[in-house]
Amino acid sequence: MTLNEMIYKRKSCRSFTNVPVDSAMLETIKAFPMKPLYPEIKVHWDIVRRNQVKCICPWTTPQLIAVYSEETDGWLENVGFLFQQMDLYLQSLGLGVCWLGMGRMNPKTTTQVAGMQFVIMLAFGHPKGDQLRHDFMAFKRKTPEQIADQADPKLEPARLAPSAVNGQPWYFVHNGDTVHAYCKHKGNRLDVGIALAHLYVANAETFRFFKADHIPFVPGYEYIGSVVLGKEMI
Ligand SMILES: Cc1cc2nc3c(=O)[nH]c(=O)nc-3n(C[C@H](O)[C@H](O)[C@H](O)COP(=O)(O)O)c2cc1C
Repeated sequence: MTLNEMIYKRKSCRSFTNVPVDSAMLETIKAFPMKPLYPEIKVHWDIVRRNQVKCICPWTTPQLIAVYSEETDGWLENVGFLFQQMDLYLQSLGLGVCWLGMGRMNPKTTTQVAGMQFVIMLAFGHPKGDQLRHDFMAFKRKTPEQIADQADPKLEPARLAPSAVNGQPWYFVHNGDTVHAYCKHKGNRLDVGIALAHLYVANAETFRFFKADHIPFVPGYEYIGSVVLGKEMI
């Protein structure tokens, strides 16, 4: 299945076999190219073992992806944008995956990455049984009207995106070909990066992200950035 098709099927997986992903597949995963939102922000990621991680969740995987970033403007949305591409890719390989905001690196078994902050991890592995969604109604999400100033089918990939505790803190405002993206005040900006990743994957040839000079004020929300999804009309 393509990454675009995965947007409509994916689901957080919390039930895994204990069989580690083999080294050939790990090499394929490490070679997966991800597009950043901000190419200038340094990001480092590693595949780590369970004993390098502290997590109170009742399920576990033998391997996890640990993500570190330089802490600077846009870093959280950049990480969300990058690794949601990985979330879709891992599921397209038949693996199960779950973002793990609860996870921390274990200081006893890992060393700090110089100049970087640990941001988040993704648990991944062989799922127990079929972990995909086959019924579109199985997505518990806000309505198109709740996430934008006007219901827009082009925003459907973003509407279906995963978010921490399913908070869906994103909001979109249209201006011609441009869509301005916002994050709820005190919401998780990483989640908005995730939603933008779905818009990128669904419009890979034409997606453009930029910071607009003049943006409408949306009470209770902070501006993240603007996107053009299709070809711009001149
Ligand atoms: C940034 C982020 C952090 C998350 N952290 C956790 C977590 O610590 N534990 C967990 O079980 N699920 C976690 N999730 C998964 C969300 O609960 C899940 O994406 C959301 O409920 C929507 O469900 P879905 O992914 O199956 O569509 C996280 C998701 C995101 C995007």
